[in-house]
Amino acid sequence: MSIKADFTQGFVRNHWYAAAWSEEITDRPLARRLLGERIVLFRAPDSAVGALEDRCPHRLAPLSMGECADGGLRCGYHGMVFDTQGACIAIPGQDIIPPTARTRAYPAVERYGLVWVWTGVGKADPARLPRIAGYGEQGWAAITGGYQHHHGNYRIEIENLMDPAHTTFLHKETIGNRAAKDVPVQVAQGEHGLKAYRWIENVPPTPLDRKSRDFGESHVDRQISFNFELPATSFVDIAVIPAGMERSEHNLMHGGLRTFSYKFLTPETDSSTHFFWLHLRNFRQDDVEFEDALRASLEKTFNEDKDMVTAIQREQEETGLRQRTAIAIDRAPIMALRMIDRMIEREKNPQLAH
Ligand code: FES
Ligand SMILES: [Fe+2]
Repeated sequence: MSIKADFTQGFVRNHWYAAAWSEEITDRPLARRLLGERIVLFRAPDSAVGALEDRCPHRLAPLSMGECADGGLRCGYHGMVFDTQGACIAIPGQDIIPPTARTRAYPAVERYGLVWVWTGVGKADPARLPRIAGYGEQGWAAITGGYQHHHGNYRIEIENLMDPAHTTFLHKETIGNRAAKDVPVQVAQGEHGLKAYRWIENVPPTPLDRKSRDFGESHVDRQISFNFELPATSFVDIAVIPAGMERSEHNLMHGGLRTFSYKFLTPETDSSTHFFWLHLRNFRQDDVEFEDALRASLEKTFNEDKDMVTAIQREQEETGLRQRTAIAIDRAPIMALRMIDRMIEREKNPQLAH
């Protein structure tokens, strides 16, 4: 068997994609490509975020080469000014603004410290933003600001993120765990996504577990769950609770250690991806040294993935293939990509939507 690499399968467009961290958006325009489209992000005088097509309707000058001035974003060529809705509000030297003097505005909102941009044509419903448990709540600490640029098609990223088996081999020095490698992974599919998970039961707490919480003499049950919410949110959910404790949502949130490691994948082009990451934990919230070490370890892990994704992208481009054989651990990645394909199909043919 061989599966061909196809870089033209397109994107799910009716979705909120992470476009930038809030603190990146200032009164200096920021050019960023999302789903192949050139977009300029800026902050208006009333502090609203603008996300406009990065192209002046006059001579197509990139608006990101202009500046924030005169109450909006001013083109750096002849000075036309646009507001966050894409309407032209001033043209130097003339009073009349022609109706064609506008640029596409993308709906943009700020949440979880990120700017989210709706790239589709359908209704931009804030209820469809990702939901992050624990964020901003008492007892939880967040590491924010994580970003990497990856030279890989987002499908290669999804295959990586839905594949718990690679951690043993690719992340030997950080999260890899040889003892876990033979515990079978279960896969559950829901309406909005998929999870691949396993419980490792009745094992002694690791030294790190002991430092983070007093488990006394008790052994622990540990869940590692790789989640994918269509079409672009991935999170690894790790729960460590005293062995045998009931696995209620309350106990999992408060009865032991819990971390959520979020990645928001925003396709940049057919062959590159913006990788935003955010990490939440319910222990050692004020331990700065621990947090610094955790951040460094996460960055190391994500760099290992980044190097692998980049190398695979290169091989796919050179061979025109995606894979030449399939093994059991491919199940979750294949399911995730099929769900994406169906979403893309439904966007192209709305009559297929139920
Ligand atoms: S190109 Fe923007 S004002 Fe002329
Ligand atoms: Fe990884």
